[in-house]
Amino acid sequence: MKKSLDFTQGEISKLGYISTPVCNSIDLPKAIKKLKKEKNAVLLAHFYQDPSIQELADYLGDSLYLAQQAAKVEADVIVFAGVHFMAETAKIINPSKKVLLPDLKAGCSLADSCPPDDFAEFKKLHPNAIVVTYINCSAEIKALSHIVCTSSNAVKVIESIPKEREIIFAPDKNLGRYLIKETGREMILWDGACIVHEAFSFEKIVTLSKENPTAKFIAHPESESPILDVAHYVGSTSGLLRYVQEDKSTSYIVATESGILHEMQKRCPEKTFIPAPVEDDTCACSECAFMKLNTLEKLYTCLLYELPEIQLDAQLMSKARKPIERMLNLGRS
Ligand code: 13P
Ligand code: SF4
Repeated sequence: MKKSLDFTQGEISKLGYISTPVCNSIDLPKAIKKLKKEKNAVLLAHFYQDPSIQELADYLGDSLYLAQQAAKVEADVIVFAGVHFMAETAKIINPSKKVLLPDLKAGCSLADSCPPDDFAEFKKLHPNAIVVTYINCSAEIKALSHIVCTSSNAVKVIESIPKEREIIFAPDKNLGRYLIKETGREMILWDGACIVHEAFSFEKIVTLSKENPTAKFIAHPESESPILDVAHYVGSTSGLLRYVQEDKSTSYIVATESGILHEMQKRCPEKTFIPAPVEDDTCACSECAFMKLNTLEKLYTCLLYELPEIQLDAQLMSKARKPIERMLNLGRS
């Protein structure tokens, strides 16, 4: 068996994960549970992960819940089954822990839509504005922000800012537009978006709703305005999950990454959940390809070799920590 030292940082960053043959007779869920114990590791997983990974999680939730849990972890190792900005956030708020991400290439189109140099220039155009950034951004962008938010607490974060202050909101223009409507606050928006939530088709959703007249349509606020305007409920992944449990209807058309349907079906086995249709019938566009880069096999090798590890510059972490802490101190909505 190879040792961790046999893998160079260059190799790992090129591929994104540890590439080594895994014997196909291994019972991966069992081996992962055993490694978690041996390494004193906790597994944090987002609702968009493959169900096989969600089932192994010590903590399963939305970005806010996972950030809150990451801050409290006492174990030696955090394995983050999510995307890069989530693991990075965990490292920033709990820097003494070893934070592992099964595939370093598990990025995020929203985070990528906001390059730090361009954002720094944009910020200079509005020197008096308070900068609010959605957690789906890089550590460099967080370091340029006053406060971070997630889709669970964005309204609360915006409302915590004095009325007379100008606000820059980045990187998601769709969430930004939704927040302008919800809070009545004008905001200067960065032009970023999520490829998964922008793939939903308004026309097909309307047609599907007509075919299923008793189904309620629910959506994540990263979706485009016309879609949000026709939704019975708009909320973060945990908000959507809460809604389907409390609401009396028996079927729902769900406009967010389809991984959430696993937990919805588990919590409401008698209800029907239909993934919202996307423009392009030939792709699995309602799946986040970044989230789905994590696999059981990569999770296993990641725990075994304790690689790939999130490593960040101490100064950058200290700048990015303050806006995250401001958000955590405000709590949920
Ligand atoms: P949540 O904040 O609802 O977990 O959403 C995270 C995300 O990446 C949405 O695309
Ligand atoms: Fe990023 Fe969109 Fe994937 Fe969420 S679903 S991680 S916003 S690309």
